[in-house]
Amino acid sequence: MNPLNHVAIIMDGNGRWGLKYKNSRNAGHKVGLKTVEKIIKETIRQKINFLTLYAFSTENWKRPKKEINYLFNLLESFLIKRIDQLHAQNIKIKIIGIKNFSKKLNNLLINAEKKTFKNKTLQINLALNYGSKKELINAIKKLNKNKKKINEININKYLQTNGIPDPEILIRTGNTNRLSNFLLWQLAYTEIFFEKKLWPDFTEDDFKKIIKKFKIIKRNFGNI
Ligand code: IPE
Ligand code: IPE
Ligand code: MG
Repeated sequence: MNPLNHVAIIMDGNGRWGLKYKNSRNAGHKVGLKTVEKIIKETIRQKINFLTLYAFSTENWKRPKKEINYLFNLLESFLIKRIDQLHAQNIKIKIIGIKNFSKKLNNLLINAEKKTFKNKTLQINLALNYGSKKELINAIKKLNKNKKKINEININKYLQTNGIPDPEILIRTGNTNRLSNFLLWQLAYTEIFFEKKLWPDFTEDDFKKIIKKFKIIKRNFGNI
């Protein structure tokens, strides 16, 4: 049985779900947040130590302002309402991506990270204003500036995922088979599961089925 420490998820399909059932993309984002809560609970039940959630890409700034604002307001109220509960569950929050949001949201994110820094049960990496290419460019720039050797260990050290094991599983919901600039380096040997369901429809059972399939995959890492 394959060990499992880290699951990464591209939570895609909120907009289509919202349009289909509520005639509003934003309604899909709201329901998508419920799925996030369910999957966090299941991750803890499964004793998985790291969960990385792609919530906003560096490319998502191209979207209409109204949708971007809605997403960030949703995140703000989630943090305000839920941070104590997350902390009580011994969850550590880490943001990967560049925090250049409103002062209010930046502070909420920084405080969430500070408050939960020592927690041990589950680390949630929230990819927010995250782009893998930008992350790699920044890492290489820093290596250069500090006159470090360009090698795998040093690149790992300067990525925002420093200290986090590579994901064993990547799930992308929403019936779209691409990576959309997510963890390009870290996913080198990850098992990828593309799910037809839109994110708001994704359930604990869907998650458990993927884990079950993963556990018995023969992982070669180049060997035979
Ligand atoms: C959620 O899904 C991902 C975010 C950027 C928050 P989308 O909003 O991309 O939904 P679809 O793909 O348009 O349905
Ligand atoms: C990827 O979804 C980003 C997140 C889930 C946050 P997108 O919906 O932005 O991806 P593309 O643009 O369809 O590739
Ligand atoms: Mg999408």
